[in-house]
Amino acid sequence: MSDHSQLIVANWKSNKTIAEVESWLKEWSATKTALLSGLEIAIAPTYPHLAVVHQWLQKDDLANVKLAVQDISPFPAGSYTGAVTVANLEGLNIKYALVGHSERRRYFHETHTEVANKVEQAVQVGITPIVCVDAEYAELQAAALDRDVLKKCVVAYEPLEAIGNDHNQSATEIEPVVRRIREIFGSVRVLYGGSAAAENVREYRSIVDGFLVGHKSLQADSFAALLTAATHQ
Ligand code: PGA
Repeated sequence: MSDHSQLIVANWKSNKTIAEVESWLKEWSATKTALLSGLEIAIAPTYPHLAVVHQWLQKDDLANVKLAVQDISPFPAGSYTGAVTVANLEGLNIKYALVGHSERRRYFHETHTEVANKVEQAVQVGITPIVCVDAEYAELQAAALDRDVLKKCVVAYEPLEAIGNDHNQSATEIEPVVRRIREIFGSVRVLYGGSAAAENVREYRSIVDGFLVGHKSLQADSFAALLTAATHQ
């Protein structure tokens, strides 16, 4: 592990209505305080829910909770119907953008080059890209990125076979991949994603700088349990 603080990102994917987001935030507000020391947390809702979470972050005392997007357009503002650009996000205080999630690569056919263009867009406005990679294409993805932006990225190692199924990879399995990612990307924060849960996060603590959490972030209580486990070593 490097000397970065732990970053834990809640990736809600295409889940939740506004009412469900509001009840998550309400439940969270009741339990949060003890969980935040020493952790940086980011919440990645869908685009229509960003403003709701943004408002909540304003009024509560939540300095170490940040807002993230799950994707970003590879293009600047302009005639790109349906795309959300970094310009559209101005004023929402977006700190992180997931780019190249395996679900984007799989269902939306994103290429390493498109992911690299998204990274460029994000860093131009000071949004930190969280580049998601599997072991087999980490190197190719890094090669598509400008050397200067590599060091501005966070990298999330997400083995495909561990996503969304409660079959997390063991610490022994991920250790050599994370080491290789650090060789390729340099001194960046590396997160693990793939069924991260309260029951398993402790085993990775000496290896990674945090977690990208999907299904265990959907309920405020399971996410709170994960944070508790990550905090208490
Ligand atoms: P999971 O998802 O925690 O549900 O495995 C992680 C991710 O895909 O970001």
